[in-house]
Amino acid sequence: TAATTELTTADGVRRRDWIHVAALGTAGVGAASVLFPLISQMAPSQDVLAASTTEIDVGAIQPGQSIKATFRKQPLFVKRLTPEEIAAAKKDDAVDMRDPAALAERTKEGHEDVLVTMGVCTHLGCVPLGAAEGENKGEFGGYFCPCHGSHYDVAGRIRKGPAPKNLLVPEYEFKSDTVIRVG
Ligand code: FES
Repeated sequence: TAATTELTTADGVRRRDWIHVAALGTAGVGAASVLFPLISQMAPSQDVLAASTTEIDVGAIQPGQSIKATFRKQPLFVKRLTPEEIAAAKKDDAVDMRDPAALAERTKEGHEDVLVTMGVCTHLGCVPLGAAEGENKGEFGGYFCPCHGSHYDVAGRIRKGPAPKNLLVPEYEFKSDTVIRVG
C-alpha cells in the first residue's frame, strides 16, 4: 500500500543520511586524531602560561635521573645532573653557542645540579627525548628531538639542528631544599 511504500522510503532516506553522517563523523575523528598531537605539542600560549603553578618534589631524583611532569598542559623535564654532566656543561659554557647561556644562568644558585626545562622543542614544538632513550644519544648527551633532529646538550642548550633556542627554563623557585614551585 501507499503507506507501506512511504514508510520504506522514509526509512531508506534516514538510513542513507545516517551512513553519510557516519562517514563524515569518521573523517572528523580521523582529522582530529591527526591534529590533536600537533596541537597538544604546540608551544604554550601566554594565556595558558598565566594559568597555573606546579610543585614538584625533586628530592627523590637521583643524579643522572630525570622526570617528566606537566606544567600548564605542557611537558616539563626535571633532571638532576651528575657531577660529570655539570663539569661538561660548565666546560661548554665557553663554547660558541647558538643561544648562549651558562649553566649558572639556567639553574638556581646552590642547585646547579637541578635542571628544569619545558619539554618542548623550540623548533616546532615536539617533545624531545632524553639522552638515555633509544638510539638518540647524540654527541651532546642531553636531549634529542625526533621530529627534525635538533640536539640539546645536558643543560638543554641547542647545539645542532633547526631549533633556534635553548629549551625554555620556566619561572620557578625552590620552596625548600627538595621542593620546587614552577610558575
Ligand atoms: Fe624539534 Fe623540529 S620540532 S627539531
